[in-house]
Amino acid sequence: MKILITGGAGFIGANFIHYWAKQYPQDQIINVDKLTYAGNLENLKELDGSDNYKFYKTDIADFAAINKVIKDEKPDAIVNFAAESHVDRSILGPDEFVKTNIEGTYNLLKSARENGNIRFHHVSTDEVYGSLEMDDPAFNEKTPYDPRSPYSASKAASDHLVMAYFHTFDLPVTISNCSNNYGPYQFPEKLIPLFIANLTDDKKVPLYGDGMNVRDWLYVEDHCRAIDLVLKKGRLGETYCVGGAAERNNREITYKILELMGKGEEMIEFIEDRKGHDRRYAIDFSKIKSELGWEPEVDFDEGMKATIEWYKKNEQWWRNVMTGDYQKYFEENYSKRD
Ligand code: NAD
Ligand code: TYD
Repeated sequence: MKILITGGAGFIGANFIHYWAKQYPQDQIINVDKLTYAGNLENLKELDGSDNYKFYKTDIADFAAINKVIKDEKPDAIVNFAAESHVDRSILGPDEFVKTNIEGTYNLLKSARENGNIRFHHVSTDEVYGSLEMDDPAFNEKTPYDPRSPYSASKAASDHLVMAYFHTFDLPVTISNCSNNYGPYQFPEKLIPLFIANLTDDKKVPLYGDGMNVRDWLYVEDHCRAIDLVLKKGRLGETYCVGGAAERNNREITYKILELMGKGEEMIEFIEDRKGHDRRYAIDFSKIKSELGWEPEVDFDEGMKATIEWYKKNEQWWRNVMTGDYQKYFEENYSKRD
């Protein structure tokens, strides 16, 4: 099979490409990424030169460009990871979120339809469902959409376009709405990798507000397995909620990182809260469990240990991200090729 992945140089996309290459070594993988600040080709350097892997530096918000790649490559399936993904950035500047997350997804749908109704899987987030109170039941596929940040609103809009293409044009689509991921290759602007990087350098870790906001956390490889199953066995036109059965508040996450890194509570600095900060996300993943037999395999404590180990072993990776050196990888390794 030939699979086209958008956003493959980012955190989850890169993990997914590694997962796919290992799981299905005969498959052709096409990676399409604009290489924004979040795209890092060093994440995929093991695949450079492989006959089964090809990279295109392409913007999904540019219809002519992305349509040409899809037309030339004729993939059997498209998995859309490409997005602006950081809530804090969406508060500072929503423009790119509307462009990439909404217009970019629209362009992919339009191109998938024009090039033979290509199977399309859209990777989305639990944030489209809004914010829960502590005693509310977890989100499920029937929870009404109620996005509250420019990030989650743009993802919600993209989900609606995906479903519109199913109902209106019979495009074979699925969506997965997943909770917070963590693991290797996550950009050190998100909670877990940022705190690991800061503590390595004896810098304090900034906890927003009272630190009691709750997220559900899933090890990224478990997410990759879920997407694989939905792509291959999911019912068309359906959404699948994916979660880690690991609800934790931000203080708990911080204490866990401090404990694993041998640091004390004095390293926490409480700072001004994020604007419109969603209080709690939680996921009921019983649909994907009963229909496709998926459930998380990596327990939270085990996943956190593995993640911290990875960041310790790969210090140069995140230091290159911090200095901006990672952005030279494309210039040095790709730009002189055809
Ligand atoms: P990320 O920010 O690490 O990576 C995004 C990738 O998309 C980058 O490589 C970037 O260069 C690329 N990209 C951005 N704009 C593009 C454009 N216009 N054209 C082509 N490529 C572009 O994000 P992530 O954390 O890996 O998230 C991947 C997907 O999963 C996103 O759609 C996100 O909404 C969703 N998601 C993320 C989480 C999470 O916890 N990280 C949870 C649920 C869902
Ligand atoms: P983040 O990793 O940005 O993911 P999301 O906002 O998509 O859930 O943040 C996770 C939680 O951690 C969220 O409640 C905000 C909080 N947070 C901090 O307290 N300090 C930080 O420096 C960051 C980046 C996040």
